[in-house]
Amino acid sequence: MLFVFNLSAYPIYHACRMRNLLEKSVARRKPWLTGETNALRLIDGAGDGLPGLFLDTYAGNWLLSTTTGVVPPPVLEWLRDLGVTCYGKRLDTHQKESPVLLSGKEIAEPFLIRENGICYEISFQSGYSQGVFLDQRENRAQVRSLMRPGMRLLNTFAYTGAFSVAAALASAETTTLDLSQPYLDWAKRNFSHNGMDPAAHHFCKGDTFHWLKRFAKQGRKFDAIVLDPPTFSRDEKGGIFRVEENFGALAALAAEVLDPDGWMLCCTNFRRMTPWEFERQLLSSLPRLLNARHSPMPPDFTDEPYLKSVWLG
Ligand SMILES: C[S@@+](CC[C@H](N)C(=O)[O-])C[C@H]1O[C@@H](n2cnc3c(N)ncnc32)[C@H](O)[C@@H]1O
Repeated sequence: MLFVFNLSAYPIYHACRMRNLLEKSVARRKPWLTGETNALRLIDGAGDGLPGLFLDTYAGNWLLSTTTGVVPPPVLEWLRDLGVTCYGKRLDTHQKESPVLLSGKEIAEPFLIRENGICYEISFQSGYSQGVFLDQRENRAQVRSLMRPGMRLLNTFAYTGAFSVAAALASAETTTLDLSQPYLDWAKRNFSHNGMDPAAHHFCKGDTFHWLKRFAKQGRKFDAIVLDPPTFSRDEKGGIFRVEENFGALAALAAEVLDPDGWMLCCTNFRRMTPWEFERQLLSSLPRLLNARHSPMPPDFTDEPYLKSVWLG
């Protein structure tokens, strides 16, 4: 639930200061919006002097997220003055609702964004997440640059298959795995949006742990594996996964189906763990020694660097 208050009750000094910060943050990112990439974070909370306030653009359609569920009046006035289409949602609630329209016109759904020339389908009306996690932009670009024709990528917890599409565009053979059939269908559409036939790739519905064991039994190997699970998840049989307790076991299972020359990308946005604790958890669970390299978050994410990305190979 989002709350909007009356501007007249807001101190004018704060309103001016806030508007200044909003304008500065957006102006700073404008040069990064190109024909190739039209989706990124425009305002990143405390990193832009606006704690608790986050603004993303998806091809000119804006999404404002707040931690409090309150849209400060100067923000709403600014949005309405700009005439921009902006939806809003409250972050981190138990009721994961679709965003609501705050300003501008309703958008026709779904629509496409471009990221480094790749098209992804976005929806503001199909739930709490919009189809692509913008904080993974640079990791997707790296995955694409590391792939060679015929290399086999396994994308687990794949959501709408964004990593798979990036790899497939570099002629990799991809396997996209998720619990949710609607997300797998969305992933297939993302292949089609980029002129690729999803039938030439593999899609597996079900639990990642289950499939990794099954691949191991079948002797299947992959050259690259992406492990980017939610912080907490429950599989079809009620089994619980918690990043802080189970990521090591997940990485160990994945290592069994990784080619000896292959690499894994392990990510988590679990905030109560440092990158080094995450690395230690991974390495201590792996049967053979792999080198670890960390990659930073994209430069438009200036708030706390919550996303930890460890490349093992
Ligand atoms: C945080 S999203 C992953 C984001 C994705 N890696 C990306 O970058 O676009 C979590 C996804 O994991 C899936 N999921 C949750 N538990 C799962 C499980 N046990 N096995 C497979 N997929 C699971 C959800 O359906 C959801 O699509």
